[in-house]
Amino acid sequence: MTNHISGGLHASPEAFSVKVEPAPEKKIVLLPGDGIGPEIVRVAVGVLRDCAAEFGHQFELDEFPFGGCAIDAEGMPLPAETLAACRAADAILLGAVGGAKWDALPVGKRPESGLLALRKELGLNINVRPIDLRPALRSLSPLSADRARHVHIDIIRELAGDIYFGEHRVEAHASGERATDEAVYTTEEVERVAKYAFARAEARTGRLASIDKANVLATSQLWRRTVTRLAADHPGVKLEHLYVDNAAMQLVLAPAQFDVILTSNMFGDILSDLGAALVGSIGLIPSMSCGPGPSLYEPIHGSAPSLAGKDVASPVGTILSASMMLRESFGLKQEAEWIESAVDRLFVKGIRTADIAEPGTTTLRCSEFGERLHSEMLGAVERQQRTGQGV
Ligand code: IPM
Ligand code: MG
Repeated sequence: MTNHISGGLHASPEAFSVKVEPAPEKKIVLLPGDGIGPEIVRVAVGVLRDCAAEFGHQFELDEFPFGGCAIDAEGMPLPAETLAACRAADAILLGAVGGAKWDALPVGKRPESGLLALRKELGLNINVRPIDLRPALRSLSPLSADRARHVHIDIIRELAGDIYFGEHRVEAHASGERATDEAVYTTEEVERVAKYAFARAEARTGRLASIDKANVLATSQLWRRTVTRLAADHPGVKLEHLYVDNAAMQLVLAPAQFDVILTSNMFGDILSDLGAALVGSIGLIPSMSCGPGPSLYEPIHGSAPSLAGKDVASPVGTILSASMMLRESFGLKQEAEWIESAVDRLFVKGIRTADIAEPGTTTLRCSEFGERLHSEMLGAVERQQRTGQGV
């Protein structure tokens, strides 16, 4: 499916960046995937269309099979055509992959293997997961009010190495079987992600927490040595090292101490779900994966098979992934803020999805949330045209 959307028919409000020359078309590959993936990506695509229409951008949206649905259609989770399209894209928006139907498949043949292969093939070694407590949702945090006052953390997760990509082996054993998963890091792999994390910390409050298990693992010792060495090039960053078990506890006890967290693939997977719980719902968290080529944006929550097809999942993580794409890949800061501030206004008005419902709020279905957001964003444009104020 190719879907060219372009905007500029409406007069762009003055405060929006009015472009005399039409902006070059951006090729966005859509990988809706499995489970709730197609429902949530549909809503985020609506947001991208609105952005194109209101700000005069041109987005070409192309959808490709990926994950379990690609196994069903083409016998493999990452078909060659899908990979080629991703390589040629300006950015990629992914829903989620996986589901019970493919759970019996061995490691290497599952939908998740397609995701790992895509990360590896595109060299997506850096993964950014912003864990932000949205003020209107503070009471949803399981933390006590004082602890939940400030949670604003960027988790930088290494994404293309570690135990995820070492050899996985199962062999016969006297007791039944013997399974091995090899964890590997090289200096170069640690340096790449660490340099990014230092730069991210420099652009924020200058605090960087590197999380490892250097009291046990050789990979973690290499990690810690490498990060410590790089710290000399970043005198403005206050670096500390934490063991992962302590870091999990500290995240719950005193999350405000963290600004940027740098960690390995495995620990980042676990700590980012913990972080999501702190801010109310894993349905809210977007992510960006980047490397030398196009970046990939996806919510961190997964395919949620029990919710699939019911139109009840939260599209917010995917919407915020789309806005992260606009900001980080296309430099469209104002457009990203337009989307994010509209999401926050809906939360303030008590417009919720089921995962973040509270007494006295209105629970909308996934598609309804998209429609409501559309009105909210367009309302902001009208207000801006009328009053010249804000987006
Ligand atoms: C994530 C997911 C994936 C991961 C799975 C689906 C392979 O949990 O992106 O956090 O472990 O990286
Ligand atoms: Mg995960």
